[in-house]
Amino acid sequence: MDLAQNYNYKIVKQFAIATVVWGIIGMLVGVIIAAQLAWPALNLDIPWLTYGRLRPLHTNAVIFAFGICGLFATSYYVVQRTCQVRLFSDKLAAFTFWGWQAVILSAVVTLPMGLTRGKEYAELEWPITLLIAVVWIAYAVVFFGTLLTRKVKHVYVANWFFAGYIIAVTILHVVNGASMPATLFKSYSAYSGVQDAMIQWWYGHNAVGFILTAGYLGMVYYFIPKQAERPVYSYRLSIVHFWALIFTYMWAGPHHLHYTALPDWTQSIGMVFSLILLAPSWGGMINGIMTLSGAWHKLRTDPILKFMIVSLSFYGMATFEGPMMSIKTVNALSHYTDWGIAHVHGGALGWVGFITMGSIYYLLPRLAGQQKMYSTKLIDLHFWVATIGIVLYIAAMWIAGVMQGLMWRAVNPDGTLTYTFVEGVKATYPYYVVRFAGGLLYLSGMCVMGYNTWMTLRNRETAVARIPALTAGHA
Ligand code: HEM
Ligand code: HEM
Repeated sequence: MDLAQNYNYKIVKQFAIATVVWGIIGMLVGVIIAAQLAWPALNLDIPWLTYGRLRPLHTNAVIFAFGICGLFATSYYVVQRTCQVRLFSDKLAAFTFWGWQAVILSAVVTLPMGLTRGKEYAELEWPITLLIAVVWIAYAVVFFGTLLTRKVKHVYVANWFFAGYIIAVTILHVVNGASMPATLFKSYSAYSGVQDAMIQWWYGHNAVGFILTAGYLGMVYYFIPKQAERPVYSYRLSIVHFWALIFTYMWAGPHHLHYTALPDWTQSIGMVFSLILLAPSWGGMINGIMTLSGAWHKLRTDPILKFMIVSLSFYGMATFEGPMMSIKTVNALSHYTDWGIAHVHGGALGWVGFITMGSIYYLLPRLAGQQKMYSTKLIDLHFWVATIGIVLYIAAMWIAGVMQGLMWRAVNPDGTLTYTFVEGVKATYPYYVVRFAGGLLYLSGMCVMGYNTWMTLRNRETAVARIPALTAGHA
């Protein structure tokens, strides 16, 4: 009997659909705040729609809704296929889906109301923080329970990355979430002053390292070999990559706090570890790209593979740029400017977005019992529209960022500032418009994906009957 019949694909499909839906919503909010930065009157003087409230809604929607739903979908799929066993508990898995949607909906309501802990990427107030902890523990039980009941001896490397991400997020969330509730919707951090800042950016940077990096590397190690029909270039390198990456990331957080009250030596440690981080990051990127050895021609005809390989190129770019920005003298120019936003979105749109989209395109037809997505041409269209969108977005922000940094530090011979702050804002205006256009293109690509997903999933009934035959041999 084919094992595929015994896998829990329902949960994978639910999370895959949620990824696409939340992707569209999160990016729409991104486009709205991008428009507000160019045309501030667009907040319509309604408190709910002000930039300060919508910005955290954007980051929460793209990271925790789009990003993490994608990680749930792929990790649940990969752990079943590579362990050749059904998920440890269907009920708990279903709880993680509905629990996570409840977390997201609570964010959608409370953030525009202005309820926040004031910590970036950890804004949600304490009752929601507790709910996150409960759902996450259930996720860990399902994932590790499945690993423990596996039918194959070997634990495939993609699972190592997913496991690392699940464990690290538990620790980060619990430590940085520690707070003292004052009322139902207001709490105060358990730490104060510079310790609070240090804990926050230890958390913030490792959210990048373990959510926005390790989790997606799990996708790289499963979906790229699958789509390219080639084994991982070097399995040995993948293991070295894993240990080097998780060890190094943990120390790099202080690069977010250069030139602050944080002790200087701590900042230097952050800088040094960030520079070291270039090596494992590029080791992983090269391992992923070289997996295509002997299959490069497939890039000409396979847009899903294009998403995956271009995502690795952006990963390489962001992990080169990051170490450079962590050098104190470079950070003196880049910090507080739009250069940071360029770096974030090179990573977010190019790396996180593209590897997620590629993996979900791989999954959807298999979950719907189809041979392939409804339209391959639309996948290609999505790829090109989104790529042009990213280039416009990040090029505009790079130029704006360096310009701002240089304008802010320019001084006249008598020591006064050459430019007032508002002159810098005025000079940035055209770049904000270009970024808005780039964001709009990226969002349009996501809407094309939404349509393609809808059309692919429409034939649900035939799906169930055809899954075993179609998925045979895909372990
Ligand atoms: C070797 C890897 C990387 C290093 C050393 C690194 C380093 C840095 C540095 C120095 C900053 C600027 C801090 C500041 O001036 O405030 C930064 C910001 C940021 N990076 Fe990276 N980066 C890396 C990879 C990535 C990747 C792959 C992503 C994925 C999306 C990413 C996402 C971010 C985000 C979201 C921020 C903004 C944080 C904030 O201020 O809210 N980074 N990174
Ligand atoms: C249509 C696509 C998108 C647009 C137009 C967009 C736009 C924006 C804008 C305007 C900001 C605020 C910048 C500022 O404060 O100066 C922002 C922040 C941010 N966005 Fe996006 N975004 C998009 C997609 C994404 C995606 C897919 C992700 C993650 C997977 C992401 C992650 C972030 C993060 C982490 C920040 C905070 C950066 C920081 O504090 O340094 N964005 N985005």
